Amino acid sequence: DAAALQGLRRGRLRIAAVTTTEYFLPDLLGPFARQYPGIEIELAVENRNAVVARLERGDDELAAMMLPPSHLPLALWPFLENPLVIIAPAGHALTRRRRMKLAELAAEPLLAREVGSGTRAAAEQAFAAQGIDWPPRMALGSNEAIKHAVRAGLGVAVLSRHTLAPDPMTEGLAVLSVAGFPLRRQWHLVWRKDRALSLPARTLLDDLRARLQVKMQPMGWVAPGASSPPT
Ligand code: PGA
Repeated sequence: DAAALQGLRRGRLRIAAVTTTEYFLPDLLGPFARQYPGIEIELAVENRNAVVARLERGDDELAAMMLPPSHLPLALWPFLENPLVIIAPAGHALTRRRRMKLAELAAEPLLAREVGSGTRAAAEQAFAAQGIDWPPRMALGSNEAIKHAVRAGLGVAVLSRHTLAPDPMTEGLAVLSVAGFPLRRQWHLVWRKDRALSLPARTLLDDLRARLQVKMQPMGWVAPGASSPPT
């Protein structure tokens, strides 16, 4: 109705997103952004701990992340699978192994994201669950820096499959076959239940719910979470 339209004519929508979602989130926002040109979208791209701090302060209405904190009253919509894979340089001897044991791989130098990264936390949890002590040889502050370092032969790394090209060979990288991998994790869109969502935020959620499945499937290796956002 007219009042609702007015609420979408101008305004601001603040969203926080963990770094790994930068590979597809701007794309997902496209149709909403084109339909409501008067809504200024601010997308903050940070690591997991920085996004948690933003949620604590209430900086953003929506956040996209794999590991939502349990100490805040959050609504969670698992909207997309986030498989975590182990990568090595293309052509590395390990790429010929099948279903390698994680414990065998742990002799390789591990390249990890910085402390505060959800990707790093999820990898550490998985290692600990198997009783494997595999401290990083090097910490790098971005997914792209890790890809370059792996390609340069400095080590192997756990990264979201979404950070890689559909065919990682084109980037000089290979996904290793390791028992228990990919780790099957999910990204959630989250928002604080103790705050009312603005009309732009609700409209964006409806838009994503309507389009997500169709949008992500052509990429082949993505199985979207087909669930609906909680209301
Ligand atoms: P991050 O992302 O490693 O950039 O913190 C983690 C996530 O996917 O939630």
